[in-house]
Amino acid sequence: MDFGIPSSLAALREAARAGRDPTAADETLALLLGEGRAISARRILEIGAGEGLTSISLSLSLGAEVVAIERDRARAAAAREHIAAFGASVELIEGDAADVLPALDEKFDLIFLDGPKVQYRMYFPECKRLLREGGTLVSDDVLLYGWVRGEPPKKRRMLAEHIREYLRLLEEDGAFETEFYEYGEGVAVSRKIYEA
Ligand SMILES: C[S@@+](CC[C@H](N)C(=O)[O-])C[C@H]1O[C@@H](n2cnc3c(N)ncnc32)[C@H](O)[C@@H]1O
Repeated sequence: MDFGIPSSLAALREAARAGRDPTAADETLALLLGEGRAISARRILEIGAGEGLTSISLSLSLGAEVVAIERDRARAAAAREHIAAFGASVELIEGDAADVLPALDEKFDLIFLDGPKVQYRMYFPECKRLLREGGTLVSDDVLLYGWVRGEPPKKRRMLAEHIREYLRLLEEDGAFETEFYEYGEGVAVSRKIYEA
């Protein structure tokens, strides 16, 4: 897919696919860009930035400012290097999202939730608070190998249950309208239709 990003960034995305926590799937990035354009996103938050490749792509393609949270020191360092190399408008905050999110005090147009799956339900109130009315919350990997809607292996039952609970929170919250896409390991796109 052509995202209008430098070929060297596309090559880094390709290489990152082999990693343990790979960068977002092409379809997911396309969806993020489509949503971003539809709502003229200027301020974007990414939770679980990895090496910054999605944040940088969003910033360069949309001309947006991105705040990106990453806990892992080595990934955060790699992200900083990539951000500098591409001259992207991305502020990388190194830390645990559970600590960083409550300290943020501004509204975002678009939030990409791609951090630890077991924490999604804990992050939900903060995502809701930080998203502007009319903004979009995109949550990655919410179907996880079919475990969430089907029968997970025994050692994955708790993880599947955490994500099910997150999806229940999303679907039961009247402020959001959610659609699902079978991209990568499943993506939820939740539009905040009013400020509760
Ligand atoms: C799937 S990877 C992110 C990929 C990235 N969003 C992308 O598209 O390139 C998930 C990331 O979440 C980070 N992470 C895990 N727990 C975290 C936490 N508590 N706070 C912030 N980041 C965390 C991991 O270190 C990992 O880099």
